[in-house]
Amino acid sequence: MGRIEDKPSRRAFLGAGATMLVAGLTAGCEPGSAQPGRDAPAASAAVSPTGPHQAGITLPREAQPNLLVVVADVDDGAAVGPLLAELGEAVRTLAAGTDARLLGLPPGDLTVTIGVGPRLVRRADPSLPGTADLPQFSRERIDPRARGGDLMVQICAGDAVVPPIVAAALLGQAGDRLRERWRQSGRRGSTNPVNEGLTAPRNVFGFIDGIVGPHTTAQQQRDLWLTGPAPVAGGTIAVLRRMELDLPRFAALPVAAQEAVFGRRRDTGTPLSGGTIASDPDLGAKTPDGRYLVPADAHLRRAHSTAVGVGLMLRRSYTIDEPAPGLLFISFQNDIRTFTNTLTRMDNGDALLSFTTTTAGASFLVLPGFDERHPLGATLFR
Ligand code: HEM
Repeated sequence: MGRIEDKPSRRAFLGAGATMLVAGLTAGCEPGSAQPGRDAPAASAAVSPTGPHQAGITLPREAQPNLLVVVADVDDGAAVGPLLAELGEAVRTLAAGTDARLLGLPPGDLTVTIGVGPRLVRRADPSLPGTADLPQFSRERIDPRARGGDLMVQICAGDAVVPPIVAAALLGQAGDRLRERWRQSGRRGSTNPVNEGLTAPRNVFGFIDGIVGPHTTAQQQRDLWLTGPAPVAGGTIAVLRRMELDLPRFAALPVAAQEAVFGRRRDTGTPLSGGTIASDPDLGAKTPDGRYLVPADAHLRRAHSTAVGVGLMLRRSYTIDEPAPGLLFISFQNDIRTFTNTLTRMDNGDALLSFTTTTAGASFLVLPGFDERHPLGATLFR
């Protein structure tokens, strides 16, 4: 027992050192000049895959720098319960570092988050949350293959090589029971402190992204986790939207015009109504000549939860550069209307939207947490 536990932690330690060395070399620095504390040690601490909720949503607190999402369909003849149970078991051994399919790599802070699409949820119980397909919105150019899907596998890790290896292991486990529809990898850059241990990275437009959300336990109980019905308690609803962003047109704007699009300062993340990065925006604040400090069409105003009349969504998006520069928007919330009502209000006048083209989109019921005795998906599928 002790020997099994010792092995991965020793390999994780060696792996972290190797990551720091490689980071220094690829950055063109002397290995000795790598900034201590910014690289692997904190990021590569193991994250438990088991518990009341799946990992990769609120844990680790700072999302890992590398992501790979695979969206697949489940073969009609496949028994969903055993498939999910096998995938959950594979996630456990992969995250523990005891799985030969890792090819000797330390998993570090690997997390795998699995959700099921509306078709499967309807099959389990049409009265459950997660049965509705996402409606169509403006500025979409979505290939039928990239709309919807039966299974979401979100894989995140500090080590960029781990997600594709884990994806191959999980898809291999499923065999011909799964047919891949689309996959997307993404990255997050260095982070900025926000508040009480919360950090957020910059997006490809240069703005700090991920400030507002259900970050306290009370907010997460209220807006993030499903508390019932019993089969979904501990789960949540995930929305994925791949967006191409018109970087040349945005970058050509003066900084003040860029800031007006978001409603925040680009350098500090502070709302245009003042305060600090963590302050609530004052949506009523005006200039002496009567103009809103946070413009009427600013993203911050259009997407503000109180203005929309919904709860908070936990955004955990990643920057992408394939097939084009943009954002893999990922949000978690316990009511799909938090997302759909927000995007509907954005559709009706958000300055940010004209810079976006959505090329993939799907929603999933993220299954409740699992452990050795309670297999993944067992509350929903036999
Ligand atoms: C699917 C479309 C999107 C939705 C539903 C959405 C939702 C949100 C929400 C709810 C907020 C918090 C507003 C508040 O309460 O103050 C927000 C803020 C923000 N969003 Fe979006 N967003 C979307 C697309 C984008 C895109 C494409 C970008 C980047 C290009 C982006 C970047 C930001 C930034 C920088 C902030 C302000 C900082 C923050 O609160 O994290 N969003 N968004």
